[in-house]
Amino acid sequence: MSEDLCLRVERKSGEQIRKLMLRRGLLDHSRRIAAVGGFVFIPLSRSPTPPELEEAGAASTVEVCSEKLPAQEPKSSSLPEILSGRLPPELVFRLPRSYDVVGDIMLLETLDPELAPYRGLVGSALLEMNPGLKTVLVKVGKVEGEFRVPRLEAIAGLHSFETIHMEYGLRLKVDLSKAYFSPRLGYERHRVAQAVNDGETIVDMFAGVGPFSLMIAKRAMVRVYAIDKNPDAIDLLRENMGLNMLRGEVIPICDDARAVAEKIPHMADRVIMNLPGSSLEFLEAATKFLRESGGNIHLYTFTPDQTLAEAKERLLKATQKIGGRFELRNSRVVKPVAPRRWQAALDIFFVADRPIPSPL
Ligand SMILES: C[S@@+](CC[C@H](N)C(=O)[O-])C[C@H]1O[C@@H](n2cnc3c(N)ncnc32)[C@H](O)[C@@H]1O
Repeated sequence: MSEDLCLRVERKSGEQIRKLMLRRGLLDHSRRIAAVGGFVFIPLSRSPTPPELEEAGAASTVEVCSEKLPAQEPKSSSLPEILSGRLPPELVFRLPRSYDVVGDIMLLETLDPELAPYRGLVGSALLEMNPGLKTVLVKVGKVEGEFRVPRLEAIAGLHSFETIHMEYGLRLKVDLSKAYFSPRLGYERHRVAQAVNDGETIVDMFAGVGPFSLMIAKRAMVRVYAIDKNPDAIDLLRENMGLNMLRGEVIPICDDARAVAEKIPHMADRVIMNLPGSSLEFLEAATKFLRESGGNIHLYTFTPDQTLAEAKERLLKATQKIGGRFELRNSRVVKPVAPRRWQAALDIFFVADRPIPSPL
């Protein structure tokens, strides 16, 4: 890694991107940010991955470059410094380096088991460093079960699982203990919403608290069927409909997405399938929602390689069982989820190869 590695961004987006780099663990704390003309240079500890760059690029023109930046003045606000003398020195290297922010909650993916006896201390220090945040939560165990809700432990602050998260101007009430929500999909939701045209009918098959559905309905005059099996997610989605000025209509449905496809088939122009662990199993149901003239499917899946070759192969196999014409129009890595595991987006266009019988 170059010692001069940094990100050049427009000055107006400097703070937003600094926070993003901090959350992704990309900020180099040993060097200072510098402003030159209409740009700021943000020091980086490593090269950003293509999805990280794309995420930053949604807010500003960004460019990875090499620039000599002044060294950071020593100050006592880094986590190791705040905890100095209160934590065994050998544990300093095990302190968390990155986290997600959901509203006023700091969400840690994991906490090193050796830090378990000190978790309250570590959590309080993290809040001290981030005065705008009110609670620190840690994921304990994998996101499991049909509703994809992680098991969480509150380690500091208000111990609240509920907050209001802002995303591209959308207000989202979330309760991380009751319904799935990830702030890391913000750019992806923005990308999909931008592809939508007025007049479309959309099915969000796994809507959760509604971030895709609401981001789309905020932008466009559409009708969105927002389906989720988790009643808590649908309750929050209803609340979120009231928290936002929407141009389109959102129809919440608490049911199994496959069952809904049988009840309201062939009326959608676009289907969103954000259930990456098993979306391909629901692909046939997604095609049932689409009009005879065809439509778009935004399918999310996990993949072990950033070329997405494995994901595309699984998609091909799934489509061969279904019939009809599938065209993969775009694919991209959305975010890393574990070592050598990424979430991928596959944008597909589907047309049935034979007339669909009328449901009437
Ligand atoms: C990964 S979350 C995505 C939530 C939301 N789209 C988002 O971006 O935050 C998947 C959601 O699918 C829901 N789900 C799982 N199986 C389902 C099914 N068969 N029918 C409808 N919803 C389902 C879960 O309850 C969960 O809220």
